[in-house]
Parts: sequence; C-alpha cells; structure tokens
Amino acid sequence: MTKEILAESLNTETFITEKVNEIRQSVGEGTTINALSGGVDSSVATLLGHRALGMRLRTVFIQNGLMREGEPEKVAAFFKDLGVKVEIIDAEEEFLSALKGITDPEEKREAITQTFYKEVFGRLVRESKALHLLQGTILTDIDETVAGIKRQHNVFEQLGINPQEAFGYSIIEPLIQLRKDSVRKVGKALGLTEEYYARIPFPGPALAARIIGEVTREKLGIVRKATSITEKRLCETGAFQYMAILHEDRVTGMRDGKRDFGRQIEIRCWDSVDARTATPTNLPYETLTKLANEILEQIAGVVSVTYNIAAKPPSTIEAV
Ligand code: XMP
Repeated sequence: MTKEILAESLNTETFITEKVNEIRQSVGEGTTINALSGGVDSSVATLLGHRALGMRLRTVFIQNGLMREGEPEKVAAFFKDLGVKVEIIDAEEEFLSALKGITDPEEKREAITQTFYKEVFGRLVRESKALHLLQGTILTDIDETVAGIKRQHNVFEQLGINPQEAFGYSIIEPLIQLRKDSVRKVGKALGLTEEYYARIPFPGPALAARIIGEVTREKLGIVRKATSITEKRLCETGAFQYMAILHEDRVTGMRDGKRDFGRQIEIRCWDSVDARTATPTNLPYETLTKLANEILEQIAGVVSVTYNIAAKPPSTIEAV
C-alpha cells in the first residue's frame, strides 16, 4: 500500500529534498529517460528529475498525434526557458495505427499503453542504454486502476505487471504518494509558473480519451478544435477541469437549408478537489450558449452541443 501524503501535511522543501535523493539512489550511474507531456504531473516529475540528475536525464515529448493544438512546441519552448532540453519524438503513425479499428475504451487504453511503453520507450531506452524511466504517476491514477474503474495508462506494479520483465526497464515514480492538489504545491515550490502548476488535468491517453468509438485523424481534428475553443472559453471559470468530447452517434441537423447528419460534442466542466469525486460546474447559461455557438460556427459537421450535468459518481470525469 502506498502511503498518502496529504496536501495539508506536505512540506514541499522536505519532499523535494527527499525525492531528489531517492531518484539519485535509484538511478545510480548512467542515463534515465523521462516523458514530459506538459501536464502538471509530468512537469513536476521532470523538474525533480533534473534537480537530481541534470544532464543525465533525457527528457522526451512523445508526439503521439493525440495532443492538443500546438502542445509539443509550446511545452518544449517553456521547458527550454527553465534550462531543460526537450526532444520531440514523432510517433504519430505508430499510435494511430495501433488505435485503428478499436472502439472499446479499455482496449484503446491498452493499445496506447503498449505503444507508449513497449514500442516507443522500449526503442528509446535501448538506443540510449537507459535502465530507468522516470514518470509522474500519482495516487489517483493507482486508485482507479486498482478499483477496476479505469485502467490508467501509466500503472503497472499495482496490477502485478513488472515493467522490467514486460518492457526491459524499471520505472521511477516520485509522485506516487501525492494527489493533484499536492502535486501543484510541489510544482510551485520547484519554480513552475502558475500556467503550469495550476493547469487543468489532461489524461495520459490525451484526446483519445475524448473520442467515443474509434480514434481517426478526422475525429482527432474535430475534438482538437473543440478542445481549443472550450479551453479558451472556460479558462476563467476556475473549474477543476473542462473538456469537449466527441460522440460516436450522429444526429440529424440542418445547415444552409439542407439536411446535415452531423456530429455531437458534449461539454463537461467539473468542480473537484482531487478528482475522486466531482460535480458539474454551475456555468452561466450565457457562457454555455457562447461556447456552443462558437463550436457550431467553427467546426464543420458538428450539429449538436450538450452540457453534462451528471456528477462523479456515477459519472467519471473523462467519458472514455
Ligand atoms: P476519471 O475519468 O477516471 O478521471 O474520473 C480522473 C482524473 O484522471 C484523469 N484521467 C487520466 N489520467 N491517464 C491519466 O494520466 C488516464 O488514463 C486517465 N483517465 C483519466 C482525468 O482527466 C481526471 O483528471
């Protein structure tokens, strides 16, 4: 059982010193790889790793084709300013072909996990002769995976999977005792700007978690655009997390006087402290209407926009 450190009792300086020492001890000599997505968890893990290992940490951003608009370049530029060199690894084809034809949510997650850890990282690790992968798994990721609610893409040992045997490297997880509120505190103490430490959570499977049914380039284009509009519109709300989801079912709509059997976007916006439970934000109707109109105007083929009003539980934050 992983021992939780609650945000109230977290001393960030002590935590940082301890984790930096632990990373150094686990790694010993040689190179370690770490995957940065620009989310709070991986950003904090990256900075801890850099404090511990300096140039012996190779930080990569995996461009899996499932990321938000402009994300790889934005993240790499931000970390460059912090003195962290980020390599962008193009693996889009690999991920999209692994996802081809898959509609079941857990199978999608599994395809992403295998492509990420076995194929792409397996190759990177072999290339750089690294023995370890450093990553920002947090306690909430483990809870839900172990409870069988959602298989978070980054959880292994708690499921009885030995990464060394399965992928050929070991995994170092310095944030495993923390939940999101604590990770943000550590991020702030490490010098992340508010834009990063206060960033809304974004799931490891990225936009694939926001497409119901098969993930295709066309659907990714739609959900990416809807995500961008939604994030811009709702960033001032102070909500814990907000997102656009692309549904699989089409509905009859009309455009320019003609029938348009089009796509449906569902908006979700959550109030939550640590993602374990969440309630839909009581958004002003005007905000919702403006958001819906922007989506309908800017994304061809979308004819329906809905707002989710079910709480978690029984809902979950992501739809997939
Ligand atoms: P759910 O949808 O389970 O989400 O209520 C709880 C929190 O976790 C994020 N999430 C994920 N994060 N890999 C991740 O790294 C995943 O597979 C995953 N699924 C959900 C979600 O965005 C929310 O903040």
